[in-house]
Amino acid sequence: MKAIRIDEFGGTEVLKLVNIDRPIPENDEILVKVYSSSVNPVDCTMRNGGNEILRPFLKLPMILGCDVAGIVEEVGSEVTNFKKGDAVYGCPNFPGDGSYAEFVAAKSNRFAIKPSNISFNHAAAVPLTSLVAWEGIFELGKLEKGQKILIQGASGGVGSFAVQIAKAKGAYVIGVASTDNVEYLKQLGCDEVFDYKSQDFENILKNIDLVFDASPIRNDIDRLKSVKVLKNGGIFVSVNVDYPFSEIVNEEMDNKNVIGKMVAGQNHANLSEIAELISENKVNVFVSKVFPLEQVAEAHKESETWHVRGKLVLEVRKEI
Ligand SMILES: NC(=O)c1ccc[n+]([C@@H]2O[C@H](COP(=O)([O-])OP(=O)(O)OC[C@H]3O[C@@H](n4cnc5c(N)ncnc54)[C@H](OP(=O)(O)O)[C@@H]3O)[C@@H](O)[C@H]2O)c1
Repeated sequence: MKAIRIDEFGGTEVLKLVNIDRPIPENDEILVKVYSSSVNPVDCTMRNGGNEILRPFLKLPMILGCDVAGIVEEVGSEVTNFKKGDAVYGCPNFPGDGSYAEFVAAKSNRFAIKPSNISFNHAAAVPLTSLVAWEGIFELGKLEKGQKILIQGASGGVGSFAVQIAKAKGAYVIGVASTDNVEYLKQLGCDEVFDYKSQDFENILKNIDLVFDASPIRNDIDRLKSVKVLKNGGIFVSVNVDYPFSEIVNEEMDNKNVIGKMVAGQNHANLSEIAELISENKVNVFVSKVFPLEQVAEAHKESETWHVRGKLVLEVRKEI
């Protein structure tokens, strides 16, 4: 099969197109015929050799790709939740050999049935980002109907889902993005939008119940702004697990009895509920660009600008 593999860590030049054998699924795995994959910032991090958390788990050679949409080709002997021919989406082995390939084998509990109203390219844009948004907002952030949530990085892959699922829950949603994305955030359903280039939301907002920080920017200045707008006893959830809360941020959170949490998005069971929201058109999937698998280096370069709107998708084979 065709795959994009890295044999060494480095820049986009290490992404090599190779021909290798198809993986063979273990008893608890399914083999998926991949139609689409997507690019997440963590793919670029892994390509570069990882961060302190990931580094011990990365083994070369490695096929990147944390999202997949495709059709079940084979099921392991212990698999009861899928059969050959099912259209599925999910997050294969992380870290481990992923979905920048024509086939991927991974544990069946990392998949769900793909929403039938969207294409494979759109379905591959969903799993990792929506799982982290769901877990961060509902499981850790405990967001309730009528509460106010501020979402940093609201126009990105994670942020675009965060805005929509918070709206679907009945929350009052405030999004932060740059000027070019203000209209996009309104279209997504934000009740209020702040342009971080020209507005200081931290001097205007207060008593926010939950801040969900889905910005790819890791700095204490932005974190302190988030803590400032939270209510006493509010919750601050960050997606950037590799950038722990510093002493000064912890101190500010303690002063306001704010609970600070990091989210990893590992509960794959949520994929079925997310599929339901998509099927009911309560959540839309925004793909800003589709690249053929062979142009993965271009997709990584675009991801590394940190200004992607919605998601970047890799098309592995065409949907007929
Ligand atoms: N913990 C986990 O399991 C997990 C899972 C997925 C992702 N993540 C992390 O979550 C972060 C977001 O991921 P993603 O896939 O959503 O990334 P992404 O799609 O690349 O995010 C891009 C978005 O970030 C916004 N942005 C850039 N600079 C900003 C700033 N200074 N302030 C506010 N927003 C800014 C951009 O909006 P503008 O263009 O308008 O600036 C853009 O829409 C990344 O750090 C990623 O590593 C964690």
